[in-house]
Amino acid sequence: MSIENYRESFRPLHSSSVEVAHLHELLGQVYGLSAPLTTPSEHVDFELSDENSAPLAEVVEEVGRKVVRYAVNNRHPLAMAHMHPPPSTVSVLGDAVIGALNQCAFIWEEAPAAALIEREVVRWLCRRVGFGEQATGLLTSGGTMSNLLAAYLALTRAREHSHVPSDLCVIASDQAHFSLQKAVSLLGLGQGALVRVETDAQGRLLPGAVREAALRQAGAGRFPFLFVCTAGTTNAGSIEPSEEFVETAALFGGWCHVDAAHGGMLCLSPRHRAAAEAWRTADSISWDPHKSMYVSYAVGALLLRDRDADAALEFHSEYALKDDECLDAGNRHFEGSRRFDALKLWMTIRHFGTSGYAALVDHGIDLSRAFALKLSRCNDFEVLTDPDTNIVCFRYRRGCGDEVDNRVNTETQRSLFRMTGRPLLSSTKVRGSVYLRAVLGNPFLAEKDFDHVIAAVRDEAGKQAAGLGANRECP
Ligand SMILES: Cc1ncc(COP(=O)(O)O)c(C=O)c1O
Repeated sequence: MSIENYRESFRPLHSSSVEVAHLHELLGQVYGLSAPLTTPSEHVDFELSDENSAPLAEVVEEVGRKVVRYAVNNRHPLAMAHMHPPPSTVSVLGDAVIGALNQCAFIWEEAPAAALIEREVVRWLCRRVGFGEQATGLLTSGGTMSNLLAAYLALTRAREHSHVPSDLCVIASDQAHFSLQKAVSLLGLGQGALVRVETDAQGRLLPGAVREAALRQAGAGRFPFLFVCTAGTTNAGSIEPSEEFVETAALFGGWCHVDAAHGGMLCLSPRHRAAAEAWRTADSISWDPHKSMYVSYAVGALLLRDRDADAALEFHSEYALKDDECLDAGNRHFEGSRRFDALKLWMTIRHFGTSGYAALVDHGIDLSRAFALKLSRCNDFEVLTDPDTNIVCFRYRRGCGDEVDNRVNTETQRSLFRMTGRPLLSSTKVRGSVYLRAVLGNPFLAEKDFDHVIAAVRDEAGKQAAGLGANRECP
């Protein structure tokens, strides 16, 4: 076929075009999903043959039938397994524009507005966390990349003080996200460089534990160059005491990073932001808009208190990043080609404003506290800890010992995922006990849904316990 035929594939999406009809068709299917998840009854085949050429209508039909139909429907109130809220409509609109524009948020020549918009959303986020005018930052693909970059910047500073890698260690709690482990490994520090401070049975740090751990490391001749406070632990959304991390980091001349990938939401609520007060004194903060700001993936942010804190990320090249160009979005960034995702964040902030975000965040946290309270009043459920954000960790308890309870909760979570129409929960382990985990950030969720969730878990857990031979009396 001649190139003429293929030029058709780049036609504009006019309102009357057949492509727009396809878009309507697919979005109609996405927004029409009625269950949290429909598990396919048999294997779905995605194999690409050597000759794949197919008319657009056929591709669209296949995506609807094979992908959309079996997707996790994160708009459904019962889809509460992960930090995965439904994207706002304005963000989805942003995605379409970003795709059509296809600007590369790397150099000014490829995306003139990208640097300005990225700078503006970063400034907005910095103001929310209480950083001053000197603050800076960058958008990333999420918390993993933000944590890696923060660790790299902290390490660069430590090396300026001539510490050798074998001396160096990072202090964080045992609830810190595993991306920190990845960062430590990628930076060549070795797994042993990450010192995980033990938390209590509720996954909370004891007062003074961070300082004690740092003193112990220093006593053994190691330099704690990075302190990572997790603000919104992955397991239970708990907020760790940032004051202690900041003070201890200052004592040792180390870098204090707050991993608020999830907990950044607190800064959006006048009712809850007091818990984030000390973050303004940290060196850096990770905050993922894709977790708590109703923006579709993949939008994270690394915020830095001091303008030049990201200097170690500045590199130049002859073909692109020249030294005299300051309007390059990728000027101080590790990644090269990047989507213009700043645009959808900018659009979503413009749409919700601070008051809209306050309402959304308060809704999720209020619901979580109400759900935890309701569960704690049931004698067959146990709640790990009072929620600080919008995550509730809980477990069904048969009272037949930890081993049986662990198996029952593990199987219950798996089984609910396999049943169409049932609540989607995740599961995790804290101090050897398996917990079910619900993230309540969905604006469509209401207190009236709790009875259904509890009944579904109780029903399934009862069946699993019976399957294990654990009757009410226990053997
Ligand atoms: C506290 C925390 N930090 C970092 C991350 C990693 O974020 P991402 O998956 O966006 O890279 C997560 C993910 O759940 C998290 O909970």
